Amino acid sequence: MDLIEQTLLDQLNQHPADLPGLWIADENLIGLASLAPRPGLSLLTNRFDVYQAAQEMGWEVLYSDFDLSPWSEGSLQRIYYRVSKEKAVVHHLINQAALRLAPGGQLQLFGAKQEGTKTYFDKARKVLGDGQLNKLGKGGFFGELTRGEQLIGEALDDRDYPRLRSIDEDFISKPGLFGWDKLDAGSALLVEQFDNIWPRLSQPAPKVLDLGCGYGYLSVKAFGQGVGSILATDNNAAAVMACRQNFERLAIPGEVLADNCAAGINDRHDLVLCNPPFHQGFSVEGELTDRFIATAARLCNRDGLAAFVVNRFIPLERKAANHFGKIETLVDNGSFKVLLLSQPKKG
Ligand SMILES: C[S@@+](CC[C@H](N)C(=O)[O-])C[C@H]1O[C@@H](n2cnc3c(N)ncnc32)[C@H](O)[C@@H]1O
Repeated sequence: MDLIEQTLLDQLNQHPADLPGLWIADENLIGLASLAPRPGLSLLTNRFDVYQAAQEMGWEVLYSDFDLSPWSEGSLQRIYYRVSKEKAVVHHLINQAALRLAPGGQLQLFGAKQEGTKTYFDKARKVLGDGQLNKLGKGGFFGELTRGEQLIGEALDDRDYPRLRSIDEDFISKPGLFGWDKLDAGSALLVEQFDNIWPRLSQPAPKVLDLGCGYGYLSVKAFGQGVGSILATDNNAAAVMACRQNFERLAIPGEVLADNCAAGINDRHDLVLCNPPFHQGFSVEGELTDRFIATAARLCNRDGLAAFVVNRFIPLERKAANHFGKIETLVDNGSFKVLLLSQPKKG
């Protein structure tokens, strides 16, 4: 645990009993879900794994795409937030925090220098009124901002955070989800391989699982290829929402589930499609790739296939060897590679 997380943990541990407070947590705070619940303090997260862990610990926790409408304006005395990776998310949450805090209420911001924390603190001070920035050492910051009687500044530009919008003629998406306004080059490479993959499937109309679906790009393209059914799943609330909307708009009769690496799914599939996450919060997460491969093996039919696309430097062949009997590289374009995994091993 770094100094920033430790400071946040200390502050949460000191949350005065019964003071109406909110802890806003994204993927950066998974390690802190071991913190015991505090009376008066709720948790809001856009990650299903954080939601589940917190719920099991007895927290009062909500899972949404950072929708703060359940808390009425001026109802909170304290909000704790470690800044997220994406600017639109941080701006959205600072704006929402300003509205939900009562006059005299406090927003506590945590983050590192390279995450733009000092700039976010300065912007938040302009909105809220007053604040003090504490240096934590090793480039960490802890800002304490107090909401004045009136909000003094204009709301920060959050790119209209909650709104789903068209990003091309096929897809809608929104800030807050992976590469929301672009087509991922890795995913495009995987789709280019569909013509090689479909003839090798044991079923002409396969049952497809889209693991870590984002806004649903792989699912939608798979549907065009011919499928029996599609199940798409993601941890991120914005992704689940956008994928559902894309299925609805394009009349795709698929199901979209919020889940942590498909932990709650047990149905086997003929084809698993996956562009696994490479980063978790601000850190690179190798273990996550392993979990995605193990899940693909668990949810693949005996004669099924799993198609993965990864950055070419990820040793997916080595990682997959524990879980699949056969591993083929379909293409390597110098940036990404597409691997076809078959003969899943029993876990
Ligand atoms: C590289 S993106 C791929 C998105 C999409 N499949 C595409 O091709 O555009 C990886 C996705 O995995 C999701 N993800 C990250 N951690 C996850 C987890 N523990 N369980 C399920 N999905 C997760 C992210 O939210 C993200 O949407």
